[in-house]
Amino acid sequence: MLETVANIQKVCKSYYLGKVEIKALKQVSLQVPSGSFTFIVGKSGSGKSTLLNLLGAIDIPTSGYIEINGVKLSGLNDNSLSDFRGESIGHIFQNFNLIPVLNLYENIEYPLLLQNIPKKERKFTVNEFIEATGLSGLEKHLPSELSGGQMQRVAIARALVKKPSIVLADEPTANLDSVTGGEIISLMLDMKKQYRTAFVFSTHDKEILKEADDIYTLVDGTMEDSYDK
Ligand SMILES: Nc1ncnc2c1ncn2[C@@H]1O[C@H](COP(=O)(O)OP(=O)(O)O)[C@@H](O)[C@H]1O
Ligand SMILES: [Mg+2]
Repeated sequence: MLETVANIQKVCKSYYLGKVEIKALKQVSLQVPSGSFTFIVGKSGSGKSTLLNLLGAIDIPTSGYIEINGVKLSGLNDNSLSDFRGESIGHIFQNFNLIPVLNLYENIEYPLLLQNIPKKERKFTVNEFIEATGLSGLEKHLPSELSGGQMQRVAIARALVKKPSIVLADEPTANLDSVTGGEIISLMLDMKKQYRTAFVFSTHDKEILKEADDIYTLVDGTMEDSYDK
């Protein structure tokens, strides 16, 4: 049986604009198994980013709860939550979010620096991921000297370098052409097999859904779990 990495139970999230309540998520539940690809699809404004932000401990639910690796996020204080996020959760952003003044090597090394991993071990792990993502030879390049596909590879290496059990990717192929997008998905597929990482994606991109283990559809903040591939 597959182990559950993330357990989301009856999560609601409301935003308030003045006195107006926007119910971005309504009673959303799902389980994410380890070593799987879970896709969240839905129109713009349906709540995909909100769900990923809650799952990534960037924001907190209005009600309901989220467990990652059996740890209830609502039970952690700010410090423990940020440590937990640093160790257990990887993020891949649509616009890559690389640090412009750091070169490729340093961008990938950064999460390990934050965790005070010793230099020798950092070097070993960073090189492992540079190789795994096909970026060898580009270590000294700044983000501005890389293509979109290369930047997304760096973002993937940076998310995976701490070997998190879950990686969240909000529309990871949205800013890439379809060939590069396909390459990026197949790279993540390799990573999922090699490291048994669970990936949760939000996407508009129908092309990449064929690799999904589970697909969930959000409609106006409500989860509909059936989807015909
Ligand atoms: N910070 C915010 N403040 C107010 N409303 C927000 C905020 N973030 C998202 N929303 C609203 O919540 C709903 C879901 O948004 P979002 O999760 O970004 O959807 P998606 O990623 O599917 O496009 C939308 O109606 C959006 O306008
Ligand atoms: Mg979004």
